[in-house]
Amino acid sequence: MKSKRTLSFTLVVALLAALVLAAGVALWLGPDSRSAGSREGDGDVLIGGPFTLVDQDGRTVTEKNWPGQYLLVYFGYTYCPDVCPTDLQRNAQAMVALEASKPAAAARVQPVFITVDPERDTVAVMKAYVTAFHPRLVGLTGSQAQVDAAKRAYRVYSAKAQQGETAADYLVDHSALTYLMTPDGKYAAHFSSTVTPEEVAARLGDLVR
Ligand code: NI
Repeated sequence: MKSKRTLSFTLVVALLAALVLAAGVALWLGPDSRSAGSREGDGDVLIGGPFTLVDQDGRTVTEKNWPGQYLLVYFGYTYCPDVCPTDLQRNAQAMVALEASKPAAAARVQPVFITVDPERDTVAVMKAYVTAFHPRLVGLTGSQAQVDAAKRAYRVYSAKAQQGETAADYLVDHSALTYLMTPDGKYAAHFSSTVTPEEVAARLGDLVR
């Protein structure tokens, strides 16, 4: 009897330990939805990493293509009816504001738009799209595998949703955070859709040095 009770106790302890471990893993893996605004990095945020993609002029680029630059990274797709154009417009307005208030800082920020829909967002489509927002906005596409790798690095979620009448007519659900990355590729801050252009410009002005 005694050994049976000990066994049960051991099982309960093991189960509790497994639960705690599972909760910890879930927290560690889970998306950061805690702050609506931006947050300074502590060096431990696992966002970002190497990527190889194709820019709006058809050149193959990696994250090392902009030495000394902070990257302002946004993932989305050009056929997006609402969120992407709004966020990209916000980021463009923030860049214009920063160019006016702190031109040296603005010159060190490279805005980047990475598509999650390379099937429709070809080099030509990206070129027409990014030039409508900001003269320095870079648009990146690539093979599905290249885009998937970039999405994994930035922990971006996206999935085809709501199919329209033709195969080429669909919406894409996707996470919509803008990331500021330091010149050495570390996460510095993120901005959700609710942050205003003025707030983004102010944060960039504080963080870029
Ligand atoms: Ni979108």
